Amino acid sequence: DDAKIGVKGLVDSGITTIPRFFLHPPQTLSGLTTPPDPALIPTIDLSGLYNSHLRSTIVGKVAHASRQLGFFQIINHGIEPDILERMIGAIKVFNEQPAEIKARVYRREMSSGFAFFTNVDLFHSKAANWNDAFFVRLGPSLPELDEIPEILRNEVVEWSECTKKLGEVLMELLCEGLRVEKGRLKELSFSEAPMMVGNYYPYCPEPDLTMGVKSHTDPGALTILLPNHIGRLQVKDGLEWLDVEHVPGALVVNIGDILQILSNDEYKSVQHRVLASSSDEPRVSVAVFFHPSEKESLYGPLQELISPEKPALFQQFTYTDYNNRWYTKELDGRSMVNHYR
Ligand code: SIN
Ligand code: FE2
Repeated sequence: DDAKIGVKGLVDSGITTIPRFFLHPPQTLSGLTTPPDPALIPTIDLSGLYNSHLRSTIVGKVAHASRQLGFFQIINHGIEPDILERMIGAIKVFNEQPAEIKARVYRREMSSGFAFFTNVDLFHSKAANWNDAFFVRLGPSLPELDEIPEILRNEVVEWSECTKKLGEVLMELLCEGLRVEKGRLKELSFSEAPMMVGNYYPYCPEPDLTMGVKSHTDPGALTILLPNHIGRLQVKDGLEWLDVEHVPGALVVNIGDILQILSNDEYKSVQHRVLASSSDEPRVSVAVFFHPSEKESLYGPLQELISPEKPALFQQFTYTDYNNRWYTKELDGRSMVNHYR
């Protein structure tokens, strides 16, 4: 009954140095920590969304941030603070259950609606990340409810409903920022097949030698992230790593590769990472990724954004092709978008 599972299992076994397997090469670990820059990762207040004057100001801010580092935070986004707390709390409680309970949902692939696993790209990467995660497939239909462990079932359902609505609102704002019809992204069914990932980053005895999540760009259209107060998320700005400031009650939004391509390079999908931490308190986060639900359809720059002055900068591709490349390449942090240029 001292079974261990995941990175938390290692920590619970009392290790004081990290296994070799987690050691990242110096080029991955390098990088200055620079303070958050509110001009580059702005916090945008969404109140006033349905007042046309305020809305155009909000659209302007969202579009500006999306064109720069592709990251912004939102406040007054309409999801109640106690819902945020419940979701974070449930992820913590799930991960802090006895190993044998987590083992029941431990998978090496996403064959069901819910899977607990560490290191999704394990077989394709040189070093492991200091985190444990669970995945919930939220679409096209929700998994059978009994596939989701009861300890976080209500919270997952609540979170999926709230983020789906918010995702659609954000997609409209992003369309307006591109001056395309505001239902254009929703029409591509990005809100039909989200994926939820709950992350748990335990205390790390040697945080300078590993990564919570190494540098990557997100593959989908859009990500809505709720982090707890521990911080450690960084966004790459040229050669620097900018800290994403913890703003209580805020959600972090970022542009994924598909939206960079659909927007014909207007919006940017930018590298980001999570540092490991020696805080006794775990870092907990939940990300909802809005992916294309029609994996065999062709995606490329939106027709409306192509003109003689600005021809399409990317070829068309299927999301299946994209996904295969994303998971099977060595995730060296670089975005995959250039493959289709
Ligand atoms: C997180 O902030 O915990 C997740 C970040 C990511 O996977 O990009
Ligand atoms: Fe990410």
